[in-house]
Amino acid sequence: MNEFYDQDIISVKDLDKSKFEKIFSATDKIIRMDPTERRELGRGKTLGYLFFEPSTRTRLSFQAAMALIGGSSLGIADVSSSSTKKGESLADTVRMMSIYSDVLALRHPLDGSSRFAAEISSKPVLNGGSGTEEHPTQAIQDLYTIKKEKGKIDGLKIGIVGDLKYGRTIYSLLYALSNYDVDIRLISPEALKIRADSIYEMQKKMSLTESTNLDEVIDELDVVYVTRIQKERFPDEEEYQKVRGSYKIGLDMVGKMKESSIILHPLPRIDEISTDVDNTKQARYFKQAEYGKFTRATLLALILNENWQ
Ligand code: NCD
Repeated sequence: MNEFYDQDIISVKDLDKSKFEKIFSATDKIIRMDPTERRELGRGKTLGYLFFEPSTRTRLSFQAAMALIGGSSLGIADVSSSSTKKGESLADTVRMMSIYSDVLALRHPLDGSSRFAAEISSKPVLNGGSGTEEHPTQAIQDLYTIKKEKGKIDGLKIGIVGDLKYGRTIYSLLYALSNYDVDIRLISPEALKIRADSIYEMQKKMSLTESTNLDEVIDELDVVYVTRIQKERFPDEEEYQKVRGSYKIGLDMVGKMKESSIILHPLPRIDEISTDVDNTKQARYFKQAEYGKFTRATLLALILNENWQ
């Protein structure tokens, strides 16, 4: 039996290096697989998605992933068209979805929402983003991208730039990277530094340094992971205005980077990477989004098939 069968994916803290490596080799396999054989993995199965926050890539890549393995999807992408609008609780919505589908993907503004949904649901739950807390399927996709585009994860110097306070993708990414031998540079405005409790926990496991100046470190980095300032999570619009546009990766910055370094971004980007960077060889964020379809198809295939890996 594969160890992911019928299991939830709520936090990367529940995964270890051997589990990551199993997901990566299963992803290699799913990419190479004959399409007809691949469609057997999800045949007759349904993904139910519940997205209580806006999403393009996560929701669509889950749907594309389910189609890739021959399954179907149904769900709620806009809360205003669901019974949530009438006052239905998250618990009841999750209960309903676990009747209509075989596996659930949830995105919700509250920390703890996915863990809660997993307790209620009779079907496995994948966390598609819970508040400012975590986004584990993004981290799996990010690590897979690093592994494919750099050929390894161990030994790399990785810079993480932008909103480190509210960006949930970076918490999952850092917890995931703590399983590897990496050197991390955290670069953010003072007001958007990583949350103190988390850095305390991470520092016990990995080498991390914090700074506000990207220019000082850009030429040393193997991976530059850029994030969006999470405007919607600021309690006060004025605070957002003080930090908006703090970092901008333009061709000048790319010119200072190593030839072999790569730029990643979970997307959506607003103005933190200029569009003329898209054609440079360092830009890998669209490739990263493409890998997300395959890593999600792999997770779904593993969760739905007891004997596949
Ligand atoms: C991220 C998210 O929702 O946390 N988006 C994504 O899933 N790729 C990042 C973001 O919104 O900035």
